Amino acid sequence: MALSNDPHCILMFMISLFTLVLFASALDIVSINDVAEAPTSAGSGGHDGFLPLAGKHVVIHNVVENGETVNVHCKSSEDDLGLIHIPWNHTWGFRFHVNFWKTTRFRCHFTWGYGGGSHYFDIFKVSRDDTPSGSTPVCKECIWEVGSYSTSLKPMCRINRDGSLPYCFDWDDK
Ligand SMILES: *[C@@H]1O[C@H](CO)[C@@H](O)[C@H](O)[C@H]1NC(C)=O
Repeated sequence: MALSNDPHCILMFMISLFTLVLFASALDIVSINDVAEAPTSAGSGGHDGFLPLAGKHVVIHNVVENGETVNVHCKSSEDDLGLIHIPWNHTWGFRFHVNFWKTTRFRCHFTWGYGGGSHYFDIFKVSRDDTPSGSTPVCKECIWEVGSYSTSLKPMCRINRDGSLPYCFDWDDK
């Protein structure tokens, strides 16, 4: 009997594949850290960390002009990081692994208490942050400033440790 024609064999194969997908998803685990200031660890933020399952550290620094607290609520398809309040000039960050299929994306909702601002931004997406051939370098420590209008008219800037000009983007409201 040819095994490949056995429907049970095909079924087992499908189940194995499904299990593998579940396993890969389970690796996409998030840890959260509250930090009082931007981390100074040795992460280069350079052209590393783009392999599958690469560990990433996203940091958000509140530098809005009016000195307000920024509220941020980030989610991926698998993780909901909850509503976080970032006081002015403070940072908040989280760590995760890009999933096996490199489809990981974290989208955040930013709001302001008094100004009533409400905007969305994809704080991590593979096309921009984890693609070596992309128009912006791969980041392992992806450090974002919210509201750094002094360098750009765009509200979200991914900064570079070497002090070179940041990569700035408009909101992803859609
Ligand atoms: C913002 O925070 C940094 C790091 O804690 C600190 O060195 C700096 O003085 C602060 N800026 C202002 C204007 O308070």
